[in-house]
Amino acid sequence: MPQKVRKAVIPAAGLGTRFLPVTSAVPKPLLPVIDRPLIFYAVAEAAAAGIHEIAMVLSPGLEAVADYFSPNGPMEEALKKRGDAERLAMLHKIHSLAEVTVLEQTEPKGLGDAVLMARAFVGDETFAVILPDDLIWSDTPAIAQLAQVAEEHGGSVVAAKRVPSEAIPNLGIIDADPLGEGVHRVQGLVEKPPFEEAPSDLAIVGRYVLTSGVFDRIKHGAAGALGEIQLTDAIAAAIGQEPLHAREFEGDHIDAGTPAGLFAANIYEARRRDDMAEVIAELGLLPD
Ligand code: UTP
Repeated sequence: MPQKVRKAVIPAAGLGTRFLPVTSAVPKPLLPVIDRPLIFYAVAEAAAAGIHEIAMVLSPGLEAVADYFSPNGPMEEALKKRGDAERLAMLHKIHSLAEVTVLEQTEPKGLGDAVLMARAFVGDETFAVILPDDLIWSDTPAIAQLAQVAEEHGGSVVAAKRVPSEAIPNLGIIDADPLGEGVHRVQGLVEKPPFEEAPSDLAIVGRYVLTSGVFDRIKHGAAGALGEIQLTDAIAAAIGQEPLHAREFEGDHIDAGTPAGLFAANIYEARRRDDMAEVIAELGLLPD
């Protein structure tokens, strides 16, 4: 009987080298889309999906990311003194979103290794994984769309999106048969295939609902592409043993894991926000 997804893991221990020089001192998860850091969006998406137990996997030295979710006494006092109820509510919202546990990945050995750090936190439940670099704006939280498929079909679910051919060699690609309504039965997953060998144009996006069996598969899997311990390989190893589905989610996705992507996410978000309307109009960035 498939269980309800109650826990989420947010792997955020990567080096963020593509954001140098800023990431030489500022952790990538704290880079903002206007005034909210990437990590906020990930936690808010989980919370909106009713998932309130969250483990953040951080590398040593990224304590500032954990601090973001801890109460900030001096700031709170100052806002109270000024009677700034609006900003006080913003501050409280950060802390009330979820119960955040911080886990450490001592070396950046890959996404699979980062997820493995959450084994004790997860136990034997089916759990969510949210990559903070992947931003998704949708009516139903993307992770909730995946959880629904897991609850209906059992097993694990990956988020999927159709991508242009030039993007294929940089992404995890899915070999799947359509089941209907944006759901596909997965036959295979390939990490970063050459375009000619790609089984489809369906790419994995950074949202997963995984059974706890993935931990053993990560542990016993060999290091894959680029010498890193790949999550994709461990998920693919379950094919034939338990159901694996891909959910072509509804919503707008931007990979904010590069400077250009983060810039695009800022423009996207600014177009949605009333307080940015003036500057968006001045810059000629209104939607067509
Ligand atoms: P990326 O592939 O974007 O790597 O990780 P990165 O290190 O963050 O960034 P670059 O490539 O150096 O610019 C995808 C996700 O997996 C996490 C990252 O934090 C990001 O959320 N990750 C990656 C870990 O938590 N640990 C790792 O060892 C690697």
